[in-house]
Amino acid sequence: MARKILVTSALPYANGSIHLGHLVEYIQTDIWVRFQKMQGHTVHYVCADDTHGTPIMLRAEKEGITPEALIENVHKEHSADFKEFLVEFDNYYSTNAPENKELSQTIYRKLKANGKIATKTIEQFYDPVKNMFLPDRFIKGECPKCHAKDQYGDNCEICGATYNPTELINAYSAVSGAAPVRKETEHYFFKLSECEAFLKDWTRSGTLQGEAANKMGEWFENGLNDWDISRDAPYFGFEIPDAPGKYFYVWLDAPIGYMASFKKLCDMKGLDFDEYWNKDSSTELYHFIGKDILYFHALFWPATLEFSGYRKPTQIFAHGFLTVNGEKMSKSRGTFITARSYLEHIKNPEYLRYYYAAKLNSTMEDIDLNLEDFVARVNSDLVGKYINIASRTAGFINKRFAGKLNPSTDNSAIAELKAAAQTIVHAYEALDYGRALREIMRLSDLANGFVAERAPWAIAKQEGHDAALQQVCSDALEMFRLLTLYLKPVLPKLAAEVEQFLNIEPLNWASVKASLSAEHAINEYTHLITRVDPKLIEAMTESNKENLTATVEVSALAKNEVEAAMTMPETEYISIDDFTKVDLRIATIVNAEHVEGAEKLLKLTLDIGEEADNGERTTRQVFAGIKSAYDPSTLIGRNTVMVANLAPRKMKFGMSEGMVLAASDESGGLFILTPDVGAMPGMRIK
Ligand code: 2FM
Ligand code: ZN
Repeated sequence: MARKILVTSALPYANGSIHLGHLVEYIQTDIWVRFQKMQGHTVHYVCADDTHGTPIMLRAEKEGITPEALIENVHKEHSADFKEFLVEFDNYYSTNAPENKELSQTIYRKLKANGKIATKTIEQFYDPVKNMFLPDRFIKGECPKCHAKDQYGDNCEICGATYNPTELINAYSAVSGAAPVRKETEHYFFKLSECEAFLKDWTRSGTLQGEAANKMGEWFENGLNDWDISRDAPYFGFEIPDAPGKYFYVWLDAPIGYMASFKKLCDMKGLDFDEYWNKDSSTELYHFIGKDILYFHALFWPATLEFSGYRKPTQIFAHGFLTVNGEKMSKSRGTFITARSYLEHIKNPEYLRYYYAAKLNSTMEDIDLNLEDFVARVNSDLVGKYINIASRTAGFINKRFAGKLNPSTDNSAIAELKAAAQTIVHAYEALDYGRALREIMRLSDLANGFVAERAPWAIAKQEGHDAALQQVCSDALEMFRLLTLYLKPVLPKLAAEVEQFLNIEPLNWASVKASLSAEHAINEYTHLITRVDPKLIEAMTESNKENLTATVEVSALAKNEVEAAMTMPETEYISIDDFTKVDLRIATIVNAEHVEGAEKLLKLTLDIGEEADNGERTTRQVFAGIKSAYDPSTLIGRNTVMVANLAPRKMKFGMSEGMVLAASDESGGLFILTPDVGAMPGMRIK
């Protein structure tokens, strides 16, 4: 019976690139969706960028663009990455969409009407310079245990201790560098503590894998806390109805983004949204997630749905993390690899799809991408076993029989391949792709055994054996057709190329019953896949090794760092000509003042030794984003460095005629440069 299925993958944050870790989940989901579609079921696969929250707001500010512009850029990048990895969403949307705003507000209103929302005044860290409340990850300071400096508000990267931001020594805001103060604020809470009975019941309904259900047990034992769903302005997100200045916490509207993306799809395709989401829906709903976000999907999400009157997920599939060569992905080892970098080096996305599929099963165990094994597995399975069947037989059909087939009617190897269909179906259905591929490779061995035993290359040399040659090769190609069908959820592009070569309609599971018939003509065989060259892997990891930037003084580096700096790829350099294009000058700050209405800017008047035609000294006006770090009166009279030939820019508050240089990093401090004593305004820096 045809099923109606809605499938989601977790929504990636819009503040970073898709990397190989993310791809485990999208590839896992995409394979399942393609498999279900090939079974003839109605499947909708939706996803979106997760766009709200403080990190995105601050990153946009840092880049000098609006959050909307930032998330639009990232949306383009993510969409392109998914497309190239053949992850085929029916809709890839954004949580910053009108459908999501409306659904989030409706759901909130329903929760409120059901008595599930409470308000509470809590104390939070506040940045007095930036005038905003600070999430824990934006507070840094000295570790209370080992006294390592610059550690995050919740745990120490040096000694591994976990603590509250209040315990940090000399805490500072990672946004402005200011010392945070504690401030009271009213927050909105979802009363999760009242949902325990419902959640226990739901957990027992078989919606979770064994390990996930155990985890739930632990959470119940520890007791469920109410969930803080509000954040104070400034915040990039949706406003809470009737709560001015309060916004939904990003995790409230993120899963609702699944619904919103589907709503958009319904509007585009004329589907019935309610059929999939009403309380008694008979359709199926599956969420693929990583084990790190189980809490959100197995507690908050079903409770939110239940108490706002919607259906709950049929099942949640949580997978483990990706390790590379047995270790956490690492920038220094070059194993923190983005989707884009993989495509640039290895090019073929289906190699990775195949490797991940071979490693995946339905548990939450971590999966390891061992790069050596990756090369060996792809080369031996895909090239050595699967493609080999066609490459050893198709040429004879093309050259000797004008592409025409004449298969046998009774071949036990073909019968065995067909009989295995059910086993493979069950393995795919159960997310045990590893088992499916092992079975498919066993069948490939069988097909290769058949070809080796019949040796068409030997038959071809004997006169008068044309019929036998045509039959052996036709049967081999029939086996190749079946194997292609079985591999199609994993290798959709290659399968499409094979369909073209075999001159057949797109394969689906019903095609197991069909066969290539006598007289059917195939197209010319061209080589379909090449071996992975291990050198490409080496080049990829090399190029992902994080380089030291050229701005670091070589003399200040340790020996190994000097070597690293010397081997920096050429593209990281600029030529001396590029450098001399920048007119750097010593400037004296003759005046500095606040700018009315500007949050970050100071207006500086700079003397760089320029004179007007009448011989009078002229000055430059520059708006500099250094208000958070400097009291303007302390700047007057100081010498600094400016870019004098930057094209004048019209800003909201007037023209800015250059740029003052300042240093800063992730910790948020800001320091303008000062030349050595004796430097005079107007001197050029060479
Ligand atoms: O963990 C994450 O990357 C989140 N952006 C996932 C959100 S999934 C869903 F709930 F929206
Ligand atoms: Zn520590």
